[in-house]
Amino acid sequence: MKIDILTLFPDMFEGILKESILARAQASSKVEIQLHNIRDFSLDPHKKVDDYGFGGGAGMVLMPQPIYDAIEACRTEHSKVILLTPQGVPYQQKHAYELAKESHLILVCGHYEGFDERIRSFVDEEISIGDYVLTGGEIPAMVLVDSVTRLLSGVIEEESHVQDSFHDHLLDYPVYTKPVDFHGMKVPEVLLSGHHENIRKWRLEQQIAKTKERRPDLLEER
Ligand code: ADE
Repeated sequence: MKIDILTLFPDMFEGILKESILARAQASSKVEIQLHNIRDFSLDPHKKVDDYGFGGGAGMVLMPQPIYDAIEACRTEHSKVILLTPQGVPYQQKHAYELAKESHLILVCGHYEGFDERIRSFVDEEISIGDYVLTGGEIPAMVLVDSVTRLLSGVIEEESHVQDSFHDHLLDYPVYTKPVDFHGMKVPEVLLSGHHENIRKWRLEQQIAKTKERRPDLLEER
């Protein structure tokens, strides 16, 4: 998969792309991630990318030209162009599964007070990562990159996906490691028993109980 990220702040991505699973996924060519500075596409002599909004109001608005040109420079016939905005569809694990099937994503990060409304005509989807407002689309783009990359074939063990919270509309089951007794809290006996069928049943019961308690809305969907 190829992911192009259009942003005014490419340096914000440095840490997250250079560590852990995302770094390994790139090194093994499971994903190719390229950052593009929207400012580089500005036709303004001073590389200006924003201006006052018509009709007044607080803050600056990103002009459509640099964003449009950045999108078109990356677009191919297989691209899916996604705009990160609090007005988008609320992002869920099922969207991550869908996006992981694509071959090319172009993620467009807005910043400041917003972007010219006409940009919406040039994207395929709008996604929000939750009902709160961030300073820009960079952190939401990181959320998409991370959640999609880990689902790509060969990036992590396939078995982990099946265990994930939200898979099958259930939260994940509890896991334990050494020591068996920590401050008087013991690892559940069944996990030490080596009885695979009992462990499987116990985990499913735990998943259902935890989901019932914390996220009954997921059980209704199930
Ligand atoms: N940009 C600012 N806030 C956002 C959010 N919650 N989701 C996606 N993009 C955003």
